[in-house]
Amino acid sequence: MSKPVAIITGGASGIGLAVTTHLHKLGYRVVIFDLNSEAGHETVSSLGVDALFIRTDVSDYTQQARSFKQAFEWGGNRLDFCHAYAGIDDRQSLGVGKEINTKTLDVNLEAVVQGLWLFKYYARRSEGVGERVARFVATSSAAGLYSMPTNPQYTASKYGIVGLTRAAGPVFAKESITVNCICPGVIATNLCPPEILQCFPKEHITPLSTVIKAIDAFLGDDGMTGLVVELSQENICFRDMVEGANESQKWLGTKGDEIWDKAYESVAERKGY
Ligand SMILES: NC(=O)c1ccc[n+]([C@@H]2O[C@H](COP(=O)([O-])OP(=O)(O)OC[C@H]3O[C@@H](n4cnc5c(N)ncnc54)[C@H](O)[C@@H]3O)[C@@H](O)[C@H]2O)c1
Repeated sequence: MSKPVAIITGGASGIGLAVTTHLHKLGYRVVIFDLNSEAGHETVSSLGVDALFIRTDVSDYTQQARSFKQAFEWGGNRLDFCHAYAGIDDRQSLGVGKEINTKTLDVNLEAVVQGLWLFKYYARRSEGVGERVARFVATSSAAGLYSMPTNPQYTASKYGIVGLTRAAGPVFAKESITVNCICPGVIATNLCPPEILQCFPKEHITPLSTVIKAIDAFLGDDGMTGLVVELSQENICFRDMVEGANESQKWLGTKGDEIWDKAYESVAERKGY
């Protein structure tokens, strides 16, 4: 039996690097997609065998699609796990009357949506498909549960990841693909400049070991899907969706979904989607 294969976007630094190293230790063949070639090459050469770096800008669909294909073939036509970590903070200028830079949405949200569908495409074609669960983990943030007023686009992108996870999780599970996301608090990485990081009291910094705890929880349970996990200090905390505001919303949240399913099926048939 061949070894399982994992793609980690943003795996050259911070949280992604910690997860890459962890999965490699667990016996995965790991493929890093990242913009940072120097750190990416350094990481794979320190891991030795069973590690590949592919320079990829995940916000460019053509590049990400090409890298998925390369990773799948390198892994022996197999793909078991993808963790989408690549992320940036806000880049908009405060100038009024100018089109703002929305790169944060491209990298943190759109690239993850594209990555999820690319993952599904290759997981369906993997050696031994149907015999085991394939896992996709997206990266939201505490900002995707609360808010980060200094970074409104970042906040919007991370709320988007929570919504994507909750909606896609149960649907993808029908094809033995689980979709979950993590929402870390502040973790000491390159995302946050050192001068900002040092303003936070140490007790409010979440250790990387809490991320690994969440990854191990996902790996240990094939039934987990559509779950949103907040990571704070040593705790991993599964967060439920908000409750319906009244009986009507509660009804729509259950029976309404059955109606949407049927309605969309017939529309899809009619329009040939
Ligand atoms: N560090 C935190 O406090 C924290 C908290 C919550 C969520 N997160 C999320 O965790 C994820 C990882 O962040 P981190 O803290 O490890 O930061 P990091 O800056 O250390 O790592 C991010 C990596 O993503 C790569 N990257 C950026 N844009 C890319 C692109 N277009 N294509 C490919 N790679 C790209 C960078 O080169 C870098 O290696 C992000 O999605 C971030 O929003 C971080």
